[in-house]
Amino acid sequence: MGSTSMFFLCLAMVHVAAGTVHEHSQCIDNPPDLSLRGVEAGKVMDGLPRGFRAYVTGPSHSKQAIVLASDVYGHYYVVVPDFFHGDPYNDSRILSEWLKSHSPVEAAQDAKALFAALKKDRKSIGVGGYCWGGKVAAEIAKTEDVEVVVLSHPSLLTNDDIKEVKWPIEILGAQNDTITPPEQVLQFKQILKERMEIPYFVKIFPKVAHGFACRYNTTDPFAVKSAEKALAYMLDWFHKYLK
Ligand SMILES: *[C@@H]1O[C@H](CO)[C@@H](O)[C@H](O)[C@H]1NC(C)=O
Ligand SMILES: *[C@@H]1O[C@H](CO)[C@@H](O)[C@H](O)[C@H]1NC(C)=O
Ligand SMILES: *[C@@H]1O[C@H](CO)[C@@H](O)[C@H](O)[C@H]1NC(C)=O
Repeated sequence: MGSTSMFFLCLAMVHVAAGTVHEHSQCIDNPPDLSLRGVEAGKVMDGLPRGFRAYVTGPSHSKQAIVLASDVYGHYYVVVPDFFHGDPYNDSRILSEWLKSHSPVEAAQDAKALFAALKKDRKSIGVGGYCWGGKVAAEIAKTEDVEVVVLSHPSLLTNDDIKEVKWPIEILGAQNDTITPPEQVLQFKQILKERMEIPYFVKIFPKVAHGFACRYNTTDPFAVKSAEKALAYMLDWFHKYLK
């Protein structure tokens, strides 16, 4: 399930510039190899609100939950909902078409019932989002549904989104990201600095591209190291703000 859960997380966006749709996007570089199986520590849970299915792992009695992450999180209860309801992107699809029926804003609204259900048994919830999921995480961070978020190489994220985030936010960008380039990430940082309302941490990882934290060349030591560092930063942020 390890690699499959990554597939849920690392999704795509499309550049629409002056009416031209550029179908090649860093979001779809390094697609996951679904024949590789990670260590299956969790299970698939059915019967969640609104027909959600999710991959869950970690102690079910834990009072802190993380939504959307992979299965390596120690004492947290980790939930990886299938935000695509069984219809993920794949290379035989046209990205811009797929996105029309997979809006991250709608996905965040759709997930409200899921968060409400999780909240019944937990004190706090964190959301980690990658790419497409970064936008989902930002949308959720505008609500009372969570306490902390981490966005890794987000896509579709705007300055206005950052102005509305209510919770401690960590943003992990990449020097070579063409989807949300470093200049954009630094604008997010500037907005958070000026707001002076919520804790934030922004870091741009050198010599890596969009997707580096979740889909990377596993035989390239630098790529592996960068992804491990991103994971460590995310966990530190959750440890600090998931009470
Ligand atoms: C890609 O998605 C289409 C549409 O859902 C599906 O019919 C097809 O089987 C998928 N291909 C792969 C390789 O998963
Ligand atoms: C990052 O960009 C630099 C400069 O353009 C390039 O030399 C390097 O190969 C790129 N690395 C990755 C991982 O994209
Ligand atoms: C992955 O990394 C290895 C070692 O650096 C390199 O030889 C190989 O070409 C890379 N593969 C891809 C698809 O970039």
